[in-house]
Amino acid sequence: MSVPLSQTKRALIELLRRVPYFSGFTDAELRSLIDQGYRQVMAPKQIICQEDDLGDSFYIVLSGVVEVISARTGMYIATLQEGDFFGEIALLTGTPRTATVRTVVDTKLFVLDREHLQNLLLEHPDLAEQIAETLSERQHMLISLGVIKEEELVNSQETYLSLVRQHLNTVFGL
Ligand code: CMP
Repeated sequence: MSVPLSQTKRALIELLRRVPYFSGFTDAELRSLIDQGYRQVMAPKQIICQEDDLGDSFYIVLSGVVEVISARTGMYIATLQEGDFFGEIALLTGTPRTATVRTVVDTKLFVLDREHLQNLLLEHPDLAEQIAETLSERQHMLISLGVIKEEELVNSQETYLSLVRQHLNTVFGL
């Protein structure tokens, strides 16, 4: 029997449906996703995560705009908007936050913690590969900008493979 959704959940499902990464998700998959995370509403010019801090959250921009900057060098790195994600590097590679991310305008985020992000990636290998690819491109951009050093780079393919291994372990007891 299906349980009626609250208006907030329904609105959140509609916002997540607009995120290209989740466009192929069924209603049930989106419901399960929103049960694992929460929505965060932020005013302009608020810091969401700070360079060098230990990170525990992964963020998807539902609406609004955020800016990625290198606090150490004062360098502008990127602007992210509706449908983009961030915070994956610290979560998936275990390094501290590589940059500071702050809101530019009123912004709505969907937030997942490490465990729930890992569950999501294990259940959706295509999504895991897309995130691993973006992670790797971002790391290379950070290296070319001199924000991180090549020695600090943790291979995203390794990160992904270790997730798959963990999954096989759980499912097949390998
Ligand atoms: P993390 O290091 O966890 O926290 C800061 C985040 O900024 C980082 O994850 C990425 O999600 C994001 N980020 C870092 N470099 C770039 C980049 N070159 N382009 C877009 N986003 C980036």
